[in-house]
Amino acid sequence: TGVPFIVAIDGPAAAGKGTLARRLADAFGFAYLDTGALYRGVALSLIRAGNTDPTESEATKAALRLDLALLKHPDLRLEATGGMASRVAAMPAVRAALDALQRRFAEIPPNGAAGAVIDGRDIGTVICPKAQVKLFLTASVAARAARRVKELQDKGLAADLGAITAEIEARDARDAGRATAPLKAADDAHLLDTSDLGIEEVFATAKSMIEKARQTRT
Ligand code: CDP
Ligand code: CDP
Repeated sequence: TGVPFIVAIDGPAAAGKGTLARRLADAFGFAYLDTGALYRGVALSLIRAGNTDPTESEATKAALRLDLALLKHPDLRLEATGGMASRVAAMPAVRAALDALQRRFAEIPPNGAAGAVIDGRDIGTVICPKAQVKLFLTASVAARAARRVKELQDKGLAADLGAITAEIEARDARDAGRATAPLKAADDAHLLDTSDLGIEEVFATAKSMIEKARQTRT
């Protein structure tokens, strides 16, 4: 009962947002929304339709017609999809088209969950400015690129550290530099640099922040 408890997790590419968000949602019985997957879904639907240079109107149509089944497509996680996602994510009408779905998720988390963990770039600043806990995860480009390389290698895929580093840097610059909902820590976000932290340490830190915030709320 009452307003859902919202944990907003923002930060640059491969900072560990999704890994942390999933663990937290699991630990607290909260719903989880990966908002990056929505932008990636729009990008993938365009790529699959052969449109690699969409206008804002074409990308917005793709966003309004987004087939949620596409969010499970193996190509969703490709860096090429991420790059296209960051291009369509800079278009204000595309962001507007995905806005309602995200806000509804925060207002009424699915399955009657008491709260939600939502990760992306603008969750603490735009989508859920009143989130009870805001985390801004960062890590050095070197650490983030190395994590992506390991992820690809673990899947048996080829990975080029130089190329991945360049792609991550380009995407971060585009995300931070855009006019609408840029990648930026909210004034009241907790900054967490995970460059030298393991998944367990990040999880433990975030978990105790949430526990503290939950106690002071009631
Ligand atoms: O969602 P985001 O792109 O921010 O990152 P992720 O997909 O959750 O994590 C990228 C990779 O970094 C995953 O393979 C994680 O296992 C790894 N990792 C992490 O998430 N946190 C650490 N402290 C260390 C590694
Ligand atoms: O997992 P990773 O951090 O690499 O990226 P993601 O969270 O899946 O997001 C892919 C792209 O979608 C980002 O580079 C952003 O351009 C865009 N995005 C956004 O603009 N706003 C969000 N709330 C989430 C993602």
